[in-house]
Amino acid sequence: MPFQPQDLLPAEEITGRLSRTDKIRLLSGKDFWNTESVDGATGFMLTDGPHGLRKQIGSADHVGLADSVPATCFPPAAGLGATWNVDLLHDIGVALGREAAAQDVGVLLGPGLNIKRHPAGGRNFEYFSEDPFLSGKAAAAMVRGIQSVGVGACLKHFAANNQESNRMRVDSIVDERTLHEIYLTGFEIAVKESAPWTVMHSYNKLNGEHTGESYRLLTEILRHTWGFDGVVMSDWLATANRPHGVQAGSDLEMPGSNGLWDSRVAQALDAGTLSEADLDAAVTRLVTLAQKVAARPTAAPVDFEAHHALARRAAAEASVLLTNDGLLPLAADARVALIGAFAQTPRYQGAGSSLVHPTRLDNALDALRAQYGDRLTYVPGYDAATGDATAEDIAAARRAAREAEVVVLLIGLPASYESEGFDRTDLRLPPSHDALVEAVVDENPRTAVVLMGGAPVEMPWSDRPAAILEAYLGGQAGGSALADVLTGVVEPDGRLAESFPVSMLELPANADFASHPTQVAYREGLNVGYRFHDTWQVAPRFCFGHGLSYTRFEVSPLSVAGDEHATDRQVSVQVTNVGDRAGACVLQLYVHAGATGPATPEQELKGYAKVQLAAGETREVSLSLDARSFATYDATDEAWVVASGTYEIRIGLSSRDIRSSASVDIHGADIVHPATVTRQPVADDQEFAAMLGRAVPVPKALLPFDEDSTVSDLQQTWLGQKVHGALVGQVTKRMAPDDDANSGMMAAMIKELPLRGIAAASGGKLSLAALDRLIGVLNTIRRR
Ligand code: BGC
Repeated sequence: MPFQPQDLLPAEEITGRLSRTDKIRLLSGKDFWNTESVDGATGFMLTDGPHGLRKQIGSADHVGLADSVPATCFPPAAGLGATWNVDLLHDIGVALGREAAAQDVGVLLGPGLNIKRHPAGGRNFEYFSEDPFLSGKAAAAMVRGIQSVGVGACLKHFAANNQESNRMRVDSIVDERTLHEIYLTGFEIAVKESAPWTVMHSYNKLNGEHTGESYRLLTEILRHTWGFDGVVMSDWLATANRPHGVQAGSDLEMPGSNGLWDSRVAQALDAGTLSEADLDAAVTRLVTLAQKVAARPTAAPVDFEAHHALARRAAAEASVLLTNDGLLPLAADARVALIGAFAQTPRYQGAGSSLVHPTRLDNALDALRAQYGDRLTYVPGYDAATGDATAEDIAAARRAAREAEVVVLLIGLPASYESEGFDRTDLRLPPSHDALVEAVVDENPRTAVVLMGGAPVEMPWSDRPAAILEAYLGGQAGGSALADVLTGVVEPDGRLAESFPVSMLELPANADFASHPTQVAYREGLNVGYRFHDTWQVAPRFCFGHGLSYTRFEVSPLSVAGDEHATDRQVSVQVTNVGDRAGACVLQLYVHAGATGPATPEQELKGYAKVQLAAGETREVSLSLDARSFATYDATDEAWVVASGTYEIRIGLSSRDIRSSASVDIHGADIVHPATVTRQPVADDQEFAAMLGRAVPVPKALLPFDEDSTVSDLQQTWLGQKVHGALVGQVTKRMAPDDDANSGMMAAMIKELPLRGIAAASGGKLSLAALDRLIGVLNTIRRR
């Protein structure tokens, strides 16, 4: 049932009373962060973001440049995904909602739940996992939390937005089965389990169509099949053709473009290419959303202390202990060398639209010094901004390591290495960080390496230090949380929500990632993350689901209840904490389809539970399976089907630490259309064409220019180069930031801005007609 407060006119009635002009006006934002008001629906604010409020104070931008009100900076989604704790994510959602409500924000732009197709994705720190089930459950929990206080959430970026390079126009070519099983399932889970008020369509194209103009995606799949009844908005400046968008089911263009599209929408209505019914449907959804926002109870004052404490708990739970020979937790009376400038200047969030102005910022140096006092020596080891180390830095690190009993070495990705707006070109740490590990471990093998950063890095030295802890980006309380984990005040309760490969070259997605300006072909199909590693038996450095504890767990043989041959089953095990400390065990349920039905990955996550256990405690845990746990997407029938056969249910403490398994016979469909089997993890042309059911599309050429052409494309011709120079000069003058992290992002964003985006951002100075004329002229003079 759509939301309908008693004392308000039904939204349809409000829509019916509006003039066409007002309806069209409502379809586009009033400004950068607010919607329009019409009679019966008051405009409201929508703002970032996924792990903390970014309500800008003065000037507005979608890349985190101008300042915003102080807000609690929780760990970004990479860390939150690693908590595997939906209750915690719900609580963080509540906190985010409360901070948004107190600032009179109607809709918070998050969570983001795109799949980490490739670990070099520049924005992976803002996403939960490589696995859709885990991503969907995490997002749903956050949405439920945010919306429980009367603030709307926004699932983003829908869909197949899995790289930053050329994100504003790149065409993701994905076969239907992969699209449904990997890239849509998380959104589907979140839509069905949390009823988000809004969804944001992505910048990219999907199979030749702008996602914001895809009727199939926005109406057939999202609304008709999944039952979404909220508002779809554009990502900021993602609109390519507004009349097409409205017809497809995109209700709101953001930010507002000062009436840029209004006359074209009116013309489309006159011409009958856009129906009044589609217009009214979009308007009614917007009015309904405005009513929900208006119905929010008065916001309570925010308890920032409590939110800081929650952020600290979350950062500790996000920490994943990758290796440990017993060095951790650190002894309370140890003489410790703390090496690494991130101890004083932490990496705790990523650059771009999710950048939060934190209410305060803890650091590991203060937190550890409070515990170890004079027994702690601190050496920066490198420059926190660049990651560079001088010979003197390394020599000082060596000295400190030699003189200490134990070393904590903090390294990772400096801010300029990962950001919204561009992808990493490799998975390496700064060379000086690798050098520091070798140097420090040479001096003192009792070294715990701590990694800060939003994504996996290659660790050729991983068997050398006594312990490795992945701390991710810890948010504003990451520093104190790190001390909590290192000293054993709390457990490192995180488990990897993504695989850490030995090298990115082994990954099938690497065959086509950020490699072509107008197209990215998902030739690896289902071979993403552990699905690849396990199916093709390529061992990762650290596997999906991995994470050690300071205690140990034993898992009993599993039992399966439920009707014979049925898909609805309950899987139960007993888990015991056999160590002498309390700790959390993450039970992971994988289904192995074996030879059943079409070619399926070796195993897939279909359930999990995080169980807190006191030392010696045993608990029974039950996980439910349903038809979807066994289903594959049959692209021929466009339906999820369960193939009859024998499936193996596996319970593990990671994807590669399976503790118990059992087989179940399932009666499903006898006919499931065979899916393409590839000879290698990456499909060749013929196989990919078979997967797509059509010829592999040729990437769009950079010439002739059109509205999707980017600023950078203009360099293709002599005249274009002149225009390019002028545009870059203008934009850089207005927006150029002075720090390293943001300058990389801004350079990419200016270069990759489509020409239509310039019109939309011009506030009316560049009309669509003028843009078309400009493109016409640019295409006439094509001399290079
Ligand atoms: C990002 C969105 C964000 C929006 C507004 C875009 O660049 O992709 O995630 O919500 O800006 O800041």
